Amino acid sequence: MVMKIKLKDWVAKQPKAELHLHIEGSLEPELMMSLAAKHGINLPYVSIDEVKAAYDFHNLQSFLDLYYLGASVLLDEDDFYQLMFAYLQKCREDNVVHSEIMFDPQTHTERGVGFEIFMPGFVRAMQQAEQEWGQSSLLIMSFLRHLSEESALQTLAAAKNYLPHIVAVGLDSSELGNPPQKFARVFAHAKALGLKRVAHAGEEGPPAYVWEAANILDVHRIDHGVRSIEDANLVEHLVVKQIPLTVCPLSNTKLKVFEHMSQHNILTLLDQGLLVTVNADDPSYFGGYLNDNYHALIEHLDINQEHLKQIVKNSFIASFLSDEVKQAWLDKLV
Ligand code: ADE
Ligand code: ZN
Repeated sequence: MVMKIKLKDWVAKQPKAELHLHIEGSLEPELMMSLAAKHGINLPYVSIDEVKAAYDFHNLQSFLDLYYLGASVLLDEDDFYQLMFAYLQKCREDNVVHSEIMFDPQTHTERGVGFEIFMPGFVRAMQQAEQEWGQSSLLIMSFLRHLSEESALQTLAAAKNYLPHIVAVGLDSSELGNPPQKFARVFAHAKALGLKRVAHAGEEGPPAYVWEAANILDVHRIDHGVRSIEDANLVEHLVVKQIPLTVCPLSNTKLKVFEHMSQHNILTLLDQGLLVTVNADDPSYFGGYLNDNYHALIEHLDINQEHLKQIVKNSFIASFLSDEVKQAWLDKLV
């Protein structure tokens, strides 16, 4: 008991990186309601408590439906600035010194809100956090896999003037029935533009989707990937290639990938030599930011300080920071 409290305190104070975070999933109910009021948008909730009560999910799709609904309150540049700045403030509280933040352009462009509105808002907040607190962050542009290849290609073209602000492309939304293969040409195009690549795979989808993400999309990291454990050859491949998995414990239990945190497979993944990181995914929907995710693991698994040290180290190793900056952070870890 005392040991767990000490571990929680220790991990909270460590400098950490977060690599799997959807900015739209950090929209807190308070900001959602205030932006809805500001823009005169009718949401099917009358109070903050009602919003929170609605966040009772049984799978990925039941969450995504509310996540896209929530994002409908984001309309002007300042809304996106506020959203981003609120997340970066949480990072500061949690000692997250570097974050790689996904955004879903199509969630906004489909509503007539373009890159010229959300990008300046995001960038303004990120530059402020860097200047005021020395906190670094990078943007990952994620394609919605339930939409067409054509829509993703159009989105990549629409991002043309903003590419200096984008480090990588990603792939998210409804996984089952939308295999990575569907976006082979989009990711090839992104690679040719010099963008790095990540993809959600093996969250609800089978190991075959993780193989496709690795071999066809040529990704640098797999987002989630917890179902990789079902295929020993795949685990070996990910270990040999040191392709990181960005694991999100609270997300996995909220979306019933695992019924209970005590059943989470992160320690097995780690023990098999996988480069595992811990992340919050959509913190306002899943009940916690980065430290809450570490704390949930400490509470429910037999995780020790050596495991935690390795995971914190991995968060920098798996990042898109330069080798010099990575090394500087690794040297700071005790
Ligand atoms: N979009 C936001 N969060 C997601 C998740 N966990 N899986 C797939 N798409 C998402
Ligand atoms: Zn995610």
